[in-house]
Formats: sequence, structure tokens, C-alpha cells
Amino acid sequence: MTVDLRSDTLTKPTKGMLEAMMQAEVGDDVFGEDPTVARLEDKAAKMLGFEAGLFCPSGTMANQIAIRVLTQPQDEVICDRRSHIYLYEGGGITYNSMISPWLLDSDRGRITPGQIVESIKPDDIHYPRTALVALENTVNKGGGSYYTMEQMRAIHSVCREHNLKLHLDGARIFNALIETGDDAMEIGQYFDTASVCLSKGLGAPVGSLVLSSQENIVKARRIRKVFGGGMRQAGYLAAAGIYALDHHVERLKDDHEKARKIGRILMDCPHVDDVEPVDTNIVIFSLKVGIAVSGFIDALKSHMILALPFGGQSVRMVTHLDITDEMMEHFEKSLKNICNNHLS
Ligand SMILES: Cc1ncc(COP(=O)(O)O)c(C=O)c1O
Repeated sequence: MTVDLRSDTLTKPTKGMLEAMMQAEVGDDVFGEDPTVARLEDKAAKMLGFEAGLFCPSGTMANQIAIRVLTQPQDEVICDRRSHIYLYEGGGITYNSMISPWLLDSDRGRITPGQIVESIKPDDIHYPRTALVALENTVNKGGGSYYTMEQMRAIHSVCREHNLKLHLDGARIFNALIETGDDAMEIGQYFDTASVCLSKGLGAPVGSLVLSSQENIVKARRIRKVFGGGMRQAGYLAAAGIYALDHHVERLKDDHEKARKIGRILMDCPHVDDVEPVDTNIVIFSLKVGIAVSGFIDALKSHMILALPFGGQSVRMVTHLDITDEMMEHFEKSLKNICNNHLS
């Protein structure tokens, strides 16, 4: 038994999901003929209060397409310095959209209306045109921190007041919504575009969506084609996504409980310096100075537990639907063993 806590992207499709995939009705989606893809796009859009959706191979592509739809070359996007769109998409915002980022340093990746207002550039040819604000919810690098609907509403208000577009990197938006209990349908009122991942906590093998207005999705479809993201009989994958939206949203609570338990276990470990607040399914903790991250990861590995080094003294663990109660027991026992022993 391997307890793989490196990421929530590691899940394998469940039996039910595989059956749904096997039974999918498919066609060529580049010809607009795959009924299952169309059903997924419509379902996801409705769930989050948008007019339309576009199925994409990855969250990165969904973000990049959305940003391209909402900006012009030489524009600027305001985002946190930890955001996925800036840190982990290979510089794609400058490459694909020819825009520059204005980076904020905010509380675990959550930016505030005040920070946005302070960042807006005057109308002066020396500056880029401030055009877009991008939020991430939940924030991966922020340890799964989340915005409430009230916070997102307040950000929407300043964006509207200052004529800025607003994008949501909602790779893990359902983790946030399950935690806050906010109404998912409200999201569409506040954001021009959102990306949503099916391949993270929701447990599908592949797939993300861009959600927006009908008009923006027509533009997004053209951009997806140019990015090489048009897929043919993608209904087999879309069926997994539909299954995930039907069966794997409510259960995210379970992942959050397990993550909190991992956080408590780590807090009792003398090798651990600090555990960031565990808000959803991501646990980020730092090891004491003098304890090598590689040594700690190797000690975990010797107990068949996998975790991800996360920069400096930090380590990340993420819970997901393949982490069973039995694995949690094994984790607790193993941690006691590792933490009672000397490490350097
Ligand atoms: C917040 C966030 N956005 C976007 C992505 C990109 O998703 P993908 O790996 O499907 O490109 C990730 C992936 O981990 C993520 O954590």
C-alpha cells in the first residue's frame, strides 16, 4: 500500500467512473458532434451560474485561453505572486497573451479589494493598461486557503467600478464552496471567466473547463483550436467529468477532514516547525532548521508515504479520493515512528 499524498491529481478513475466512460455516446467534438462533451459543458456552466463552457485538456490551457479572451497585448493582470497562472504555467501569460503581471504579496495568496485599487495604473503611455484581475480559489501555494463568496463579491465590485475584467482560476473551486457552504450558482455573476478542473479533487483522469458568456466561449473555442486543444471523441473523458460532478463534489468534505487530521499529526511531530492552517485538502508544513527536507521525504518513503518538497524547508501533502481510512491509520503510525527517531 502506497499512501500518495503528493497531489490530488494522482487519483485513478473509480469503477463507476470507468463504467460511465465506457457507455459514453461520442462524436467528433472538433466538428461539434460530441453530445457528451456538450452535456458536460452545459452542466458545468449551469452549476456555476455561467452561460456556456468549453472542455479543455488541462487547467493550464483553460487559464491561458480565458486570459487571452479577456486581454489585449500590452495589458497587465493583477494577481498574487503565488498564483498558478504566474508561477506554474511556464510564463504562458506573457507568451500566449503578451501581457505582464503585477504581483501582489497577500495573505496566503488571497488578494483584497484595497490591494487591487492601489495597483491600478494611471492612463499614461509609460505603463501597461491594467485590464484584468485573476483570483485563485482555493490557492494551491497558499495551502488550500479560500475566498468566501462575500470576499469574491467585494472584489467583483471594485473590478466593475474600475472597468477591470475578473478571472477565476477555480481549479479547486468546489473545495472552497464545500467548505464555505456558499451557493455555487453565484460565481457566474462575479467573474467574466472561470477555469474549473475535473482532474484534481473531483477525481477525473483528464479535463478542465473554461466557463463564461456565450460570446466569450465562441472566442475561447477559436483560441483552443490554435493552442492545439481541439479534441475528437473526447466524450469518453467528458463522461468521467460528468460522473465526477455528480458523485465527487459532496465527498470533498471527507478530504478536508483527512487533511486536518494530517495537520494535527504533523503538529505533534518534533521535526516539524510549523503547519499552515489547514483550510481544505492541502497541508503545507515546514521542517525545523537542521532537518533536511530530502531526509524527511526519504523517511516517509521508507514507510511507503509520498510527499512533495515545496521550496525551502516546506513540504506539501494533499488528500484526495484514493486516500482510505486504512491509509490514514498507516500514516499516523508511521509518523509516530519517524518523529520519535533522530533525523538530520
Ligand atoms: C490552482 C491551479 N490552477 C491550475 C492548475 C493547472 O492544472 P493542469 O495541471 O491541469 O494544467 C493547477 C494544477 O495543479 C492548479 O493547482
